[in-house]
Amino acid sequence: MEEITLRRPDDFHLHLRDDAVLRAVAPETARHFGRAIIMPNLVPPVVTGDDARAYRDRIMAALPSDTSFEPLMTLYLTEQTDPADVVAAHRTGLITAVKLYPAGATTNSASGVRDVDRVRPVLEAMAEAGVPLCVHGEVTDADIDIFDREAVFIDRVLDPMRRAVPGLRVIMEHITTSEGVAYARDGGDSLAATITTHHLVINRNAILVGGIRPHYYCLPVAKREHHRLALRAAATSGEASFFLGTDSAPHVDAAKETGCGCAGCFTASNTLSILAEVFEQEGALDRLEAFCALNGAAFYGLEPNAARITLRRGRPVAYPAKIDCEAGPITLFDPMMDLHWQVADGGAAPVA
Ligand code: DOR
Ligand code: ZN
Repeated sequence: MEEITLRRPDDFHLHLRDDAVLRAVAPETARHFGRAIIMPNLVPPVVTGDDARAYRDRIMAALPSDTSFEPLMTLYLTEQTDPADVVAAHRTGLITAVKLYPAGATTNSASGVRDVDRVRPVLEAMAEAGVPLCVHGEVTDADIDIFDREAVFIDRVLDPMRRAVPGLRVIMEHITTSEGVAYARDGGDSLAATITTHHLVINRNAILVGGIRPHYYCLPVAKREHHRLALRAAATSGEASFFLGTDSAPHVDAAKETGCGCAGCFTASNTLSILAEVFEQEGALDRLEAFCALNGAAFYGLEPNAARITLRRGRPVAYPAKIDCEAGPITLFDPMMDLHWQVADGGAAPVA
């Protein structure tokens, strides 16, 4: 196959940041994606409906005025979150979801949740009003090995929480393990999982073999090869429970290449080329559209995008190693393989 046409994809987990980084990265996603779920882990975080409105305006100001890209805003759940504010912001369409960060789990998560029981009233109000919860699924207990944090979270936090608030719609963000795949698969209609581009490509060797490679360090950290294979099988299966959330998470090089580097892989620019390559390797190009343009929209109750994009296969495509940013260069994720597919047509044309 030399050409494939899909509904314009959506990214159901994206970090756009603010200020100079926002201006540098937002056009990279808007070029090919119709919508994205925007992560709220700014400093300070996006915690109220008013914060979300102001952040959405800053995102739109960072994009060309004729863009068709739509940011789907989220609120950062804290132990002080007001259930009425969440429900009101969702009812008016201002926010699409709420994000649960366990306190201390990742970048800017200090204001996150220490004890899920304390946010039970918010979760119950969300279940009642149909507001989905995006979950960063890792425990932060010092005695749990970092490679086990996702599997332990499922047993200790996620499963009890879902039993306590049965109507809640939950998205397990950026799953990285076969345990995550199995739990999402068995979770019924109220549970789904996003999978990143980079976790389909790297295992933990990419971070550690032959020297420490900070641009492959992200959270949840990449795991053993058999987990990566489980993620590839899930993503390319076409099953409704699995869809794309790139977790493209830009940090300027100075913040990655240092004694205590930030977590995050920046994949916005080359994600579609990488995904097409992965799906081709798995003999599943016919299921790429389900993964990046249909399943997520269906779970969130959105129509798929009307516009389409075409990916074309050809000679290996060269992406720049870094993108420019006034705050300093940002390294693009290097998939360490040739990429033959690229977006041939931005896909602005609506379906007849
Ligand atoms: O790698 C990551 N980077 N994982 C996260 O959960 C957060 C993100 C970020 O904001 O940098
Ligand atoms: Zn993230």
